[in-house]
Amino acid sequence: MQAFVTGLPKVELHLHIEGSLEPELMFELAKRNQVAIPFSSPDEVRAAYQFTNLQSFLDIYYQGANVLLTERDFFDLTWAYIERCAADNVRHCEIFFDPQTHTDRGVDFATVINGISAALTKAEHELAITSQIIMCFLRHLDETAAFATLEMALPFKDKIIGVGLDSSEQGNPPEKFARVFAHAKALGFLTVAHAGEEGPAQNIVDAIDMLQVSRVDHGVSCVQDPALVASLAASRMPLTVCPLSNTKLKVFEHMADHNIIELLRQGVCVTINSDDPAYFGGYMTANFMAVAQALTVSNTELAQLSLNAIEASFISRERKLELSQEVLSYLQQA
Ligand code: ADE
Ligand code: ZN
Repeated sequence: MQAFVTGLPKVELHLHIEGSLEPELMFELAKRNQVAIPFSSPDEVRAAYQFTNLQSFLDIYYQGANVLLTERDFFDLTWAYIERCAADNVRHCEIFFDPQTHTDRGVDFATVINGISAALTKAEHELAITSQIIMCFLRHLDETAAFATLEMALPFKDKIIGVGLDSSEQGNPPEKFARVFAHAKALGFLTVAHAGEEGPAQNIVDAIDMLQVSRVDHGVSCVQDPALVASLAASRMPLTVCPLSNTKLKVFEHMADHNIIELLRQGVCVTINSDDPAYFGGYMTANFMAVAQALTVSNTELAQLSLNAIEASFISRERKLELSQEVLSYLQQA
């Protein structure tokens, strides 16, 4: 099973680049940039990663991002993630970044996007790993701040395929960002949003109706509403599910309680993703393995999860066909 899962060609659609900051790199960047951090070793950082819910994670996660200051830092962060992609046979990835986490600390938008983008260009040239970039609005901040962030992104529009919505779901429903998403759509950005992670199924309905999303990030609370599950299956609206994140943040107490395979069997376009792998205990292969070990799942179903991610990705029809072919040949040889 481990060998099959490791070699399976994969596509990742839900990865916050700031959430791939491993404690070792956090220490290296803190030293390089002379930023004080409240830990004395990488092991101490890891020991602090005990979360009770989404907010308990976000508080630590935003603090960790303080060590990221220069274009080289964002390059190194992204390249480290790409090396994990290569090890896990991730063939295409779509990466979130949170501009406001950086611009609010005085780091220029250009510094962030240029560092990330340079590493992704190198990944395509040297490793044939393709990618897209999605910028997220922090939903605990207001609509005015989101509009200002959208404005800042315009000179870099050629590098950004879409906009997303992340941070604290509770108390910050999709409707708060309906106008900024409509404006982003009119400018030509695709849209996605975190919904139904800790929040109710209604947030998923509202993200689809009010934000016109092409994918729902997480979306696991859809099971509260059987009519919604039926409509997700019928429309093939993708859900970018993050199994290790969900158990770390207590969305599900145990992986055996997770609903991803049940949703897959109901025809929903579910995908497996790592969310914030440095904080939640693993990258793509680890997420696939956690599901495969806790739930009964066949190789064909594991391959279907990869095919779903290809279907849900923001890539050309040709690249989708090429990647689907890789997955199908891999399954046949297994
Ligand atoms: N930002 C980073 N990871 C997140 C998650 N799982 N939910 C909401 N916002 C996030
Ligand atoms: Zn996320």
